[in-house]
Amino acid sequence: MNKTITVSCIGVGQRGNIYMTEMLKLGKDKYKIVSLCDLKTERLELAKNNYGVLGSNLFTDEDEFFKEKRSDLLIVGTNDQDHVRLCLKGLKVGYDILCEKPISDKEDELKELLKVQQETGHKVVICHVLRYAPAFMTIKEYVDSGVIGQVVMIDDIENVGYSHQAHSYVRGNWRTTKEAAPMILAKCCHDLDLLVWLANSKCESISSLGDLRYFKKENQPVGASSRCKDCKYRGSCVFDAYELYIKQNFWGRVAVTDKRPITEEALRESLDNGPYGRCVFECDNDVVDNQITMMRFKNGITANLRMTAFTACGGRIMKIYGTYGQIDLDETRGVIELKPFGKEKTVTQISSLIDATNGHGGGDHGIVESLYDFLTKEQSKNISLLDVSIESHLMGIAAEKSRIHGGERIVINHDK
Ligand SMILES: NC(=O)c1ccc[n+]([C@@H]2O[C@H](COP(=O)([O-])OP(=O)(O)OC[C@H]3O[C@@H](n4cnc5c(N)ncnc54)[C@H](O)[C@@H]3O)[C@@H](O)[C@H]2O)c1
Repeated sequence: MNKTITVSCIGVGQRGNIYMTEMLKLGKDKYKIVSLCDLKTERLELAKNNYGVLGSNLFTDEDEFFKEKRSDLLIVGTNDQDHVRLCLKGLKVGYDILCEKPISDKEDELKELLKVQQETGHKVVICHVLRYAPAFMTIKEYVDSGVIGQVVMIDDIENVGYSHQAHSYVRGNWRTTKEAAPMILAKCCHDLDLLVWLANSKCESISSLGDLRYFKKENQPVGASSRCKDCKYRGSCVFDAYELYIKQNFWGRVAVTDKRPITEEALRESLDNGPYGRCVFECDNDVVDNQITMMRFKNGITANLRMTAFTACGGRIMKIYGTYGQIDLDETRGVIELKPFGKEKTVTQISSLIDATNGHGGGDHGIVESLYDFLTKEQSKNISLLDVSIESHLMGIAAEKSRIHGGERIVINHDK
């Protein structure tokens, strides 16, 4: 019989629910959801019914929730700026933790969390879900097998997509560094983590250029309104919120309204009055919409990461250049190509590796599966522990510092 891991979740939003849903897909005897904490009672009520949690185990106040240890594992699924504070509380009460990324955009917070994690001996796993996505696992296996010889350089393009940018980084939760991590961490700590993993080395130095180019007042079309609702460009503007969330069924609609099921009426009401109905040229956003980052790793590998809002669709493109061959991964076309020099190439359709319903290319499912093995058998060749995950965050913090200083080269300090 399987050991059952009991689970609590603080921050029962999009991400918290994704992990709990994936946990239950593994079968009820592996994970059992037992307690929940969120500021919003309607989210708690919905989750209570979905996961069969007792009403007495629902909390809206974190102090009340942390009065005692309520399960084996705690999911920290709140917004960016709260992760370290809640992880520290969780570790002190005795939880092993699954914590959302980014951990923090502050170096001193990262160091404090690592110190407390090491002192308490509890496990902290960071949701770098792409390490568990079959497509990225495939290219990692290729690299480590030596089939392309020694890796010399890596190119990574993060195609954010114009609609995703507008949703998350202009109108939504990650639009300003007052409330969320800078975009190089919020969007790209996954990329930075993948680069460390693929390079098999820590990063030595980094420099970065980028700015907020387009989504600002000076680019607003003449005569446009502050909200799409009464704008004369309704129907012709590609950022028309009603077109995007209602007609095109854009995935971001799950964040537009808390009502379930999501109805057109609920969407209209939120777009008429809420943040997602604002003109993209008249929001309080300050995060970048384009950024280029250049890195040198300690083992000599160099890499470059381009993050851009200005793409038709989302998905990463990675090219890994080795002394005997090349690997191309293209999520926008759904293929991985292994091209050893002078030999036949091997082409893999990414769709053949995953179930399309699993988010993050199967990574959302993969992480909870690996986590179970790790917690019950200490077995998992690839688990994104805190000490390893901090590396990508040090890189992101350094890249942002470089960007603010006009691309200055920053040497990364690895003293923890
Ligand atoms: N791993 C990934 O690939 C990935 C993808 C998207 C988002 N994220 C990260 O996941 C985190 C959550 O994102 P989301 O989209 O689920 O956000 P969300 O807004 O849907 O959910 C956050 C929830 O936390 C609750 N909350 C906030 N402060 C709280 C507190 N003190 N106590 C209890 N509840 C509190 C909010 O009420 C909300 O329900 C963010 O940090 C985000 O950057 C990670």
